[in-house]
Amino acid sequence: MDDASATAPEPVRDGISTTGPERNWPNNSWWVAAHGSEVTDKPILRWILEMPVALYRSEAGVVSALHNRCPHRWAPLHLGHVEGADLVCPYHGFQFAPSGQCVRVPSQATTPPAIRVRAFPAVERYGFVWIWTGEVEKADPNLIPADLAYLSDPAWHTVWGYKSVNGNYMQIKENVLDLTHFAFLHKNSLQVSGWDRAPEVEMGDGRVGYVQVHDMEPLAPVYAVPAGKPIGKLANRTTRGTQLSPGAHHAEVAIHEPAPEDGGLAHFSLRMVHLTTPVSIARSHYYWAMARDHGEPFDVEATRGMADIVFGEDIAMVEATQQMARCAIDHDQAVEFSVSADQAAIQGRRLVQAMVNAERAG
Ligand code: FES
Ligand SMILES: [Fe+2]
Repeated sequence: MDDASATAPEPVRDGISTTGPERNWPNNSWWVAAHGSEVTDKPILRWILEMPVALYRSEAGVVSALHNRCPHRWAPLHLGHVEGADLVCPYHGFQFAPSGQCVRVPSQATTPPAIRVRAFPAVERYGFVWIWTGEVEKADPNLIPADLAYLSDPAWHTVWGYKSVNGNYMQIKENVLDLTHFAFLHKNSLQVSGWDRAPEVEMGDGRVGYVQVHDMEPLAPVYAVPAGKPIGKLANRTTRGTQLSPGAHHAEVAIHEPAPEDGGLAHFSLRMVHLTTPVSIARSHYYWAMARDHGEPFDVEATRGMADIVFGEDIAMVEATQQMARCAIDHDQAVEFSVSADQAAIQGRRLVQAMVNAERAG
């Protein structure tokens, strides 16, 4: 697993995505900044939307997020230490509350109320730390997709991981809205069959998703082995994926085997979550999770190993695509043809761009 704290952006204006050289993310959104287990009373630095953010956990266990630049002489606050609920700057000891308000200047008796640092609303939910990067009054925690509640449900076996990606976050999002690459990019790793037509696309509530039903296809190893099924046994497979928000995507493969062996499963599911957060226009944090409702005992390492291989194939392609985007200095004239199977990805891109445009217009 990569180290998310090591991911600093390249010079901000050095990037370009497949959609152009402009920032293509909305600020008014919840983004995953870390997995909860990464945030302790030893502060860490995360670059989020081109901003350095210090994350820390108070002595009471509450996660806070402050802009990492101390407003006194710009020392990185993540090099400081936690006192109670506050973060103390490592340079001259100014102390900042989770609200960003400076509450102590050690060299004088009074603390000017004007001294403060930007605080980001932070919520720990479903195992991850989400921060809101836009207008504070709009930071409604109910906007964090409740669809992901199973990530903290003990009925599901869950494993998570992290990748630092040299690519725009929307390239990752479009990749996970695209099923037809399975037949080629994941041909050897997944060996899943039936990708010979475009999936149906569903839209609504600010979301876009796909659904594809495959009747009586051979079970690939990735589905058969954890469920204790013979590889190649025929089963019905329904694959769904939804772009839940600019930073979150959920997918499920629900399998129904009409003729299970004695005591065998008739229904079982594999779920995947893709949590993508821009570092800059050309770099992204990519937290993923996989969950099964079957497979005892749950083989964490096998699941993680499989995810590393498959998502590694995706990331290698996203990064290679990013290189092609970067060399398109004539970006306005660069041609991109889409086909029916790209409909979900294109709609996902449009949905996010509409949010970006609305913010700019506002
Ligand atoms: S730079 Fe932070 S207290 Fe001086
Ligand atoms: Fe993929």
